[in-house]
Amino acid sequence: MSMASSSSSSLTFLLFFSLIIFISAIAATPSSFIKSSCSTTTYPSVCVESLSSYASSIQQDPHQLVQTALSLSLNTTLSTKSFVSKLNKFKGLKARENQALRDCLEEIGDSVDRLTRSIKELKLCDKSKGPDFQWHISNVETWVSSAITDESTCTDGFAGRALNGKLKSSIRTRMLRVAQVTSNALSLINHYGSKQ
Ligand SMILES: *[C@@H]1O[C@H](CO)[C@@H](O)[C@H](O)[C@H]1NC(C)=O
Repeated sequence: MSMASSSSSSLTFLLFFSLIIFISAIAATPSSFIKSSCSTTTYPSVCVESLSSYASSIQQDPHQLVQTALSLSLNTTLSTKSFVSKLNKFKGLKARENQALRDCLEEIGDSVDRLTRSIKELKLCDKSKGPDFQWHISNVETWVSSAITDESTCTDGFAGRALNGKLKSSIRTRMLRVAQVTSNALSLINHYGSKQ
């Protein structure tokens, strides 16, 4: 290979890599729509970080934003539910630990039901106007608030009992994430509701 072709191929190589870095920088930059919408939530950085990968489907659509936030909240809650149900099968837990896990599982299950219903109800908001819209959005707000209450009941249940430290902290970490994404979804929904 001549000197000329080797330097031109390393130039091509360099350009190629610059392009990749450039593209990944764009992909990782949260859209300004997501950033500004998230600025009114309780946990703005969690909001931006969790929703940025959906930027291309959210675009600038306020309905798609709340629908995604709620779906994310449901999915996070579902994965926590399956985590807690696996712990529940763990041998060697004390009776009170098992009881706390069972209670928590029931509360997370209630939360999943409410979030699932909320997602269906929120879809109706997209097609309705005026008092109809307000009726559907207020149902969503009520059910998401109840979901948050169920989630915090689980977390509080663990705080009060003498539990295995590792067990407690692994659940608390996940429940904290669930609480944050759900609370953010509620902030976004309230904002969406007040704008219509
Ligand atoms: C939540 O999970 C469902 C089913 O797996 C999936 O279709 C949906 O895209 C997920 N939502 C988000 C926001 O990732």
